[in-house]
Amino acid sequence: MNIADSTAAPKWVTFQLLERCNLRCRMCYEWGETGAYHEHAKPAMLEPPLVMRTIDECLSAKPLFEFFGGEPLLYPGVFDLIERIRAGGCDVTFPTNGTLLEASAEDLVAAAPTRVWVSLDGPAEINDAQRGAGVFDRAIRGVAAVVRTRAARRKRLPELGVTFVVTPANYAHIESFFLGAIDLSLFACVSIELQSYATREQAMEYGRMLNEHFGVGATPCANAYIRDPACFAGIDTHELARQMQSVKRVCAEQGIAFHSQPRMFGAADLQHYFSSRWHAMTDWNDLALGNIHERSLLEIWRGARVKEVQALVRNQLFPICTACCRYYGGAGVLSTRRADHA
Ligand SMILES: C[S@@+](CC[C@H](N)C(=O)[O-])C[C@H]1O[C@@H](n2cnc3c(N)ncnc32)[C@H](O)[C@@H]1O
Ligand code: SF4
Repeated sequence: MNIADSTAAPKWVTFQLLERCNLRCRMCYEWGETGAYHEHAKPAMLEPPLVMRTIDECLSAKPLFEFFGGEPLLYPGVFDLIERIRAGGCDVTFPTNGTLLEASAEDLVAAAPTRVWVSLDGPAEINDAQRGAGVFDRAIRGVAAVVRTRAARRKRLPELGVTFVVTPANYAHIESFFLGAIDLSLFACVSIELQSYATREQAMEYGRMLNEHFGVGATPCANAYIRDPACFAGIDTHELARQMQSVKRVCAEQGIAFHSQPRMFGAADLQHYFSSRWHAMTDWNDLALGNIHERSLLEIWRGARVKEVQALVRNQLFPICTACCRYYGGAGVLSTRRADHA
């Protein structure tokens, strides 16, 4: 492949495999209290042959593949997809709520994805108040099953990571979770992210902008993020910063990779974030860039609409961008839904 070809293909491909999920985590922008997916009469899902074709289309550019959901382990044929990607010499990672890990440990170790992120939000009681009764124990049993199966099969993969979303309900339990409630040595990496949210004004401005530039009529995905910043007022950001720093230090001592979103998490930055003063700090499915039911991923990637969006965001960010904790550390998305048009 020459340089022109390699830059004309994505280097990071994320499939929103399916919308379906077996949990209803309170803070989730998909299935939580304000989640956008409750409105969908039938949760969307990409057809496995279409995903396979798109993987094959992209493999030669050697991108990083990611799966997202919904719950990726509910996707029919997920292990076939992983095997195809790995056989093509690429890495693949995905998050999971962990509840299906125990049942899938054998298949998972055989398919050998590069890394699986297990989402847990605190010690058992705190996690389960946010993610559902019994979820902590199921996820921990799943982690143990993967570790056991890896050892029995003499396999190194998948690496396991643990990812934690900071909310008002769990911010004070970060240390007790990472340094007490789980066996940190089982994980290759840790990620601590802040609850993503947007103000009502931001979401409205975003809707106006998508309408003006792209004729998009409604922005339910963005609306799912709307929170009154007052709901974060109880977070002691000094304590939050101290606990994140403490976990980061222990990870460094134990050779565990530590990620945080945002990357910088001093008390002042955390305070700015949770009081919607994002401007003071050091994309979404509403805008479909194309539809792989209609055109191939590379056609879309090289097409006019992607160029238009790139040109726009080169000059100005979308007003909603600051709502996401990942902003501080994106891309448009291809739609899972047949009806969305380019
Ligand atoms: C939407 S879930 C999909 C994958 C899978 N169901 C899971 O829970 O890992 C992906 C990640 O988003 C996180 N998440 C959910 N709601 C969030 C929010 N409001 N802000 C930031 N992250 C959030 C979840 O904890 C999870 O780690
Ligand atoms: S398991 Fe994941 S997708 Fe399902 S509700 Fe929880 S955070 Fe959302």
